[in-house]
Amino acid sequence: MKVIKKIKKMQRVILELCKKGKSIGFVPTMGALHEGHLSLIRRAARENDIVIVSIFVNPTQFSPHEDFHKYPRNLKKDTGLCKKIGVDYVFAPAIEEMYPEGYATYVNVEGYLTETLEGEFRPGHFRGVATIVAKLFNIIQPHRAYFGEKDFQQLLVVKKMVKDLNLPVKIIACPTVREPDGLAMSSRNVFLNSEERKEALVLSSSLKRARHAVLNHGFADAKKLSESIRCAIQASPGIKLDYIAICNARTLIPVRKVKKGCIILVAARAGKTRLIDNIKI
Ligand code: PAJ
Repeated sequence: MKVIKKIKKMQRVILELCKKGKSIGFVPTMGALHEGHLSLIRRAARENDIVIVSIFVNPTQFSPHEDFHKYPRNLKKDTGLCKKIGVDYVFAPAIEEMYPEGYATYVNVEGYLTETLEGEFRPGHFRGVATIVAKLFNIIQPHRAYFGEKDFQQLLVVKKMVKDLNLPVKIIACPTVREPDGLAMSSRNVFLNSEERKEALVLSSSLKRARHAVLNHGFADAKKLSESIRCAIQASPGIKLDYIAICNARTLIPVRKVKKGCIILVAARAGKTRLIDNIKI
């Protein structure tokens, strides 16, 4: 496995791989790798000749008050994990490599999809995500790119960008990987103290209960369902809810009647740590 830090070098390698007719699977990450990331990487390895993982904590997707400087970074550990599970190349550029002085071009997926939910609580976030993902796609030119359903809105935004810009890459959605007790894995979970960690479980457990109520008890009133989730979450005093939304899973437009094909999304803070989770019905 090779770790590549320069764009030019990465592009030379890609050219060689293309000449040899190799299919390229790409997993973009911000590092601090966990089983969620590894599940994407394993799938990429099954479906492609070559697997490339990028590790880059992208400053443009963080607002000034967010945790960019605190975000967990451990390149050595991450590259060790990548090597162990059969990654061919890790692309780990420095900030100045991706955003040199005078950098001025951004990709903005406009409209409801980026303005609602995370877009409302993290203005500018998806502009940063779309920009870095577009840049990485241009550099790596993957045949397939793997994204987690854990960040469901991000997945939809990336799909929309790929469609609108006619990018020749197939976006593969991968299911959320959870801790044995249900907590969705996230690089930010390391920030949770033991009390917050315990309280954070209410997100996944209330989503699971809501899904059960819909599928097994015919519960269909979205307003009532979201109220019951809200009540469950508010019973944990350490968890501050940002939103609960029950939406159409393609458009993220809120629904009134909950049925198969809907998705319930939540975002909350446990202390200073922001957590998101979702469940499909
Ligand atoms: P990061 O949070 O590191 O996540 C990288 C990829 O791993 C994303 O596609 C994310 O959805 C997926 N992932 C994270 N936790 C997961 C889990 N528990 N189960 C399954 N997949 C999971 O998302 C980003 O980085 C960045 O925004 C990025 C796309 C790299 C652009 O900077």
